[in-house]
Amino acid sequence: MRTLTHALVALLLTILAPLAAAQGFSLAPLPYSYDALAPAIDEQTMRIHHGRHHQAYVDNLNKAVAAAPALAGLSLEALMAQISKAGDAVRNNGGGHWNHTFFWQSMTRPGQGGSPSPELLAAINRDFGSLDQFKAAFKAAGLGRFGSGWAWLIVTTNGKLKITSTPNQDNPLMDIVADRGQPILGNDVWEHAYYLQYQNRRGDYLDAWWQVVDWSTISRRYADAQKDAQK
Ligand SMILES: [Fe+2]
Repeated sequence: MRTLTHALVALLLTILAPLAAAQGFSLAPLPYSYDALAPAIDEQTMRIHHGRHHQAYVDNLNKAVAAAPALAGLSLEALMAQISKAGDAVRNNGGGHWNHTFFWQSMTRPGQGGSPSPELLAAINRDFGSLDQFKAAFKAAGLGRFGSGWAWLIVTTNGKLKITSTPNQDNPLMDIVADRGQPILGNDVWEHAYYLQYQNRRGDYLDAWWQVVDWSTISRRYADAQKDAQK
């Protein structure tokens, strides 16, 4: 009887696994309305950025994974950790999906983002001198990224905070980047993130963006990263 049960379970898993994989990745709604981040980020930019750009990364990631059976069923995080084994389509679109999901969750309505937790602020002061110095260095990373890419605040394996930048849709979770670590904050400096409102003034976009950074989420991520580092 027990053998029969095991056989049935195995049969069910065999049938269901490809179905689960076929469902693939999907685009979650934004955690706020499209106009919620104005005036820092305008509604039209948010609609196009989320509904077209992010949707395209999700669609193209699903196509790329369907064409690479060895990657079927892997979580997005697992894909990032072994992206060196995947092709460019999975790297670009998987990174695009992870980065944008993280980005939307990093922001909230202007004035509702609060402040860094005492623990995070102490780490910022320790590693950058002050919150203002951190913001200036983060802006410099975003301005210094030639072409398209991202600026990041990561927690390194030794528990330090570090500002990094990646090209295109790479991110610090990927096993191919120079500065690996756990991202707790990231800003999209592709032109599609700001051009409608700011045109070529990337610096103005980077300055305005602090109005919508959700420090409660960033502080929670910092606490989680600290816990993970102690495991
Ligand atoms: Fe983007």
